[in-house]
Amino acid sequence: MIERNFHIMTFGCQMNSNDSDWLKRSLISRGFTEAATPEDASVFILNTCSVREKPEQKVYSLLGRIQTMTKGREDILVAVGGCVAQQVGRGFFNRFKQVRLVFGTDGLASAPQALDRLVEEDQLRMSLLDFSEEYPEKDQEWSDGVVPPAGFVNIMQGCDNFCAYCIVPYTRGRQKSRSSVSVLEECRTLVARGMRDITLLGQNVNSFGQDAHGDGTSFAALLHQVADIKGLERLRFVTSHPKDIADEVIDAFGTRENICPRLHLPMQSGSDRILKSMGRKYDITRYRGIVDKLRHARPDLQLTTDIIVGFPGETEEDFLQTLRTAQEIGFAQSFSFNYSDRPGTRAEMLADKVTKEVMQDRLQRYQDWQSEYTEHILQSMVGRKLDVLFEGMSKKPGSDNNAEAWQGRDVFGQLVHVTLPSGGDMAGKFMPVTITEAKKHSLIGEKAGEPW
Ligand code: 5AD
Ligand code: SF4
Repeated sequence: MIERNFHIMTFGCQMNSNDSDWLKRSLISRGFTEAATPEDASVFILNTCSVREKPEQKVYSLLGRIQTMTKGREDILVAVGGCVAQQVGRGFFNRFKQVRLVFGTDGLASAPQALDRLVEEDQLRMSLLDFSEEYPEKDQEWSDGVVPPAGFVNIMQGCDNFCAYCIVPYTRGRQKSRSSVSVLEECRTLVARGMRDITLLGQNVNSFGQDAHGDGTSFAALLHQVADIKGLERLRFVTSHPKDIADEVIDAFGTRENICPRLHLPMQSGSDRILKSMGRKYDITRYRGIVDKLRHARPDLQLTTDIIVGFPGETEEDFLQTLRTAQEIGFAQSFSFNYSDRPGTRAEMLADKVTKEVMQDRLQRYQDWQSEYTEHILQSMVGRKLDVLFEGMSKKPGSDNNAEAWQGRDVFGQLVHVTLPSGGDMAGKFMPVTITEAKKHSLIGEKAGEPW
């Protein structure tokens, strides 16, 4: 029998972190405990991502490290989940003796039961790789009854867009919306237990409900229903595909007080030619039109984006269009990446690949601009009074013993550090804060009113 002591390693997107958080809670409710350090663990869970670069190699080398670290121990169980598990599947069993469970996205919901069995039956191996027809509803176990002040609620799984570069539709399957009733129930429970900031999560939230599994509720309708929940102070959603964002959703930024003025709207490229080849189904005029409407609805809206540099066929001029467009729109932040071939995607077959050197040079130029601009945005916050929702103590302790450093987020989601007299429990509380200083990635502020 294997000890019920686990360690989870998570790679990739917000979906994966959210899945890992759920898995952790679910395992704890089944009598597992989280190991204090990886060395103490008997059950290792790797939640993997294959969206970019060489994820398989990363997973193999990590499995090799676990093997070395646990040399001589028989009582080890390794589970591999997420997108790489979906792709490689049972192939892991042949290469690594310790791997006894592989689970894909739809298999996650039953991974805790599987682990329950596997710790008891040491000859058993299991794979949960099938895509289910329906959204695989998971039990919502908050074992210790305490919910964090801010959290995520999954509203859908998978994606139907098949953008030329993207592996997600293959690893996470086709789009499956969750029922609006379940989404609302989960949001209401979380708010009743103290959550004050919710992010609705999905690969393409704006097409919520528009698949065979939807219950007729559109994303705009769902957004309003969640925004109506009393006690929910902040509402966000991620990710939005520009081609699917409805006018009602744009308008909601202007009419609903608890919808936060920050939106992630992946642009990917500023060149119409490249966008067409990516299969994104919008051009830059349309993208800019959406940005204008959003800013009309909510003038202080901050926009963030995803950019791919070096997509096959991208010329210097295409890249410059991306850079110029980003500068004109003024993204508060970008997640920018070098294009990487993903097996089985349309882009993998395209000719005219951009060399690594050219790609790296373009990425550097893009990122140099973005870091400077992000700093400029943070600087512009100095002197402003903003409500901060505190999440916990900052890692760095304050310089004097009578003070504690707390960290939280403002309405834009920016990290704010505040030093406060020790002894007060600020977790889950809002407090007005005057911003006194901007760092490279965060803000420093001081108390400017009473917590609530
Ligand atoms: N190469 C580089 N970046 C990619 N992304 C997705 N697939 C690839 C790829 N093959 C980026 C996109 C997407 C984000 C999650 O990852 O920008 O929006
Ligand atoms: Fe990938 Fe495009 Fe779907 Fe986003 S919308 S997950 S980039 S296929």
